[in-house]
Amino acid sequence: MSDVIPRDPKANFDKRILTERTEEMLEGLDESALNEITSLRDDFARFMMPYKFAIDEVMTKISILREEFAALRDENPIEHISSRVKTPESLMQKVARKGCEPSYQAIREQITDIAGIRVVCSFVSDVYRVFEALTAQSDVRVLQVKDYIANPKPNGYKSLHAIIEVPVFLSDGPHPVIVEVQLRTVAMDFWASLEHKIYYKYDKTVPAELLRGLREAAQVASDLDEKMQRLHDEVRGV
Ligand code: GTP
Ligand code: MG
Repeated sequence: MSDVIPRDPKANFDKRILTERTEEMLEGLDESALNEITSLRDDFARFMMPYKFAIDEVMTKISILREEFAALRDENPIEHISSRVKTPESLMQKVARKGCEPSYQAIREQITDIAGIRVVCSFVSDVYRVFEALTAQSDVRVLQVKDYIANPKPNGYKSLHAIIEVPVFLSDGPHPVIVEVQLRTVAMDFWASLEHKIYYKYDKTVPAELLRGLREAAQVASDLDEKMQRLHDEVRGV
């Protein structure tokens, strides 16, 4: 612990909260400008809120499936589930990148990964089983499916992506909300997280040598999935 620099607990409170420049700027704003900023902030919070609720709903659906499989069939098709709501920064970057009109309606329609859920399964067969069970539900509307397991990306990326819409019931009635669900195996997830790190480390211009290494690793991961699936089927007597 010797490398921990002792922190002065008062240090932060002695600093000014606003710089002189910010203070002057705020003083220069009239009340209507302040109200406008406040209302912009509230509108944005209201826009984002249903995405959090949609995640809660879909997470519950997946947790129920998981518990049902465990209780009735003594199976554990899901290894782990994670979720995230896109940060405002990342959302605005994507709006700009996609040339999306910066209106709430356009963003709601065109940016389909504001709410994201990732389901990691043990076996490829489980990925499809969870996908089928989720998308068959009567309140889940499937907008788009991309099967990068059947058709991997040129870099080797594999996953099953589903863009779905679920109704979120607020005090004024139902709001359809779009959620991106990514389903993959542990091996695919391992590969994707490494690839993601490398991609950002090299600021999206990965050396050819590394790209080749990644493609090879993707093949190894895919071979492992196949082998594990065969063993799993054998054990279950398929
Ligand atoms: P965006 O990439 O989100 O603009 O959408 P898209 O139309 O390309 O959709 P796609 O279904 O291809 O990708 C959606 C998400 O899947 C991405 O945001 C990533 O989380 C993941 N993904 C897609 N391709 C790759 C990849 O090559 N590597 C990794 N690590 N993740 C990927
Ligand atoms: Mg993306």
